[in-house]
Amino acid sequence: MVLPRDFAEASARAGALSRRTSLGVGGTPEFLFEPHDEDEVCQIVRRCNREGVPLRVLGGGFNLLVRDGRLPGAVLLTHRLQHLRVLPDRIEAGAGVSFPSLVKRAILWQVPGLPGCPGIPGNVGGVVAMNAGGRFGSVADALSEIRYVTPLGELVTRAVREDDLGYRCNHFGAAVITGASFRRDASLPAADLRALHAEALAWKRETQPWGTRSAGCIFKNPSGQRSAGRLIDEAGCKGLEIGGARVSPVHANFIEAGPNSTSADIEALIERVRGAVRQQFGVELELEVQTW
Ligand code: EPU
Repeated sequence: MVLPRDFAEASARAGALSRRTSLGVGGTPEFLFEPHDEDEVCQIVRRCNREGVPLRVLGGGFNLLVRDGRLPGAVLLTHRLQHLRVLPDRIEAGAGVSFPSLVKRAILWQVPGLPGCPGIPGNVGGVVAMNAGGRFGSVADALSEIRYVTPLGELVTRAVREDDLGYRCNHFGAAVITGASFRRDASLPAADLRALHAEALAWKRETQPWGTRSAGCIFKNPSGQRSAGRLIDEAGCKGLEIGGARVSPVHANFIEAGPNSTSADIEALIERVRGAVRQQFGVELELEVQTW
């Protein structure tokens, strides 16, 4: 393939994704793009389409396991899409805006749901794509509008529909999410939102690993069953270790990566855990983390 000049530049910039993922593992893509605005995103998507180069989107890299070695195709980083606008009825945020910073300010801005999401890392694009959240609140509680670039390179802005988001997934297809709007509700007392935030934070610190390298929950909770964490715990996998990567002793659905862990170590540990749960309970656990 003959590469246009900007592809060659993107190629020169590509570094190992281990620097950009929370697990600290992962190889190097052929091309790396860091668009500054939505117009550039459209151009990159169209260009990759034309050249037949597969394109992946990297948000905060917090819910992702990237294989070691060479990664074919292009990776688009959203971190420069930093647009943020505070309007009387909503907050408009670019995909690259830090979600934890939005969560903190959501108390003052009276955004429903988000104050119940402390300790969820990532950026706006990533948490929208994964419909992040938990028992105290979720992205879906306040998401009102979405901006994305279609696989043909068209920018779309539209209201969020009820069936757009599922459990830890979205139905926007292969679109690149470039921004989102979150509803404000002036009737929400700031004191209640502050209390919700404090309660959610305390609960999270107590029940989930804190300050270690992880990708959040590894598996989705199976429907109608005990949670994945409980199944893994009851299968005796807490503390299980391969190559320095271990099943968290705090919450069994988290894998903590050690300083020298590789992606292959983590994958092997995932398969070990999956096998143990299958053998003991006959349940097939499905991955929540994305794998590249
Ligand atoms: N449990 C155990 N052992 C463990 C972990 C959990 O027995 O090692 C038990 C708990 O005692 C509890 C039950 O399993 O009875 C459920 O655990 P928890 O309340 O921690 O919730 P979860 O279902 O494991 C989900 C989300 C989390 C989210 C929390 C809080 C999934 C896969 N996980 O965890 O989301 O933070 O609820 O709302 O849906 C994530 O998706 O990355 C994530 C961290």
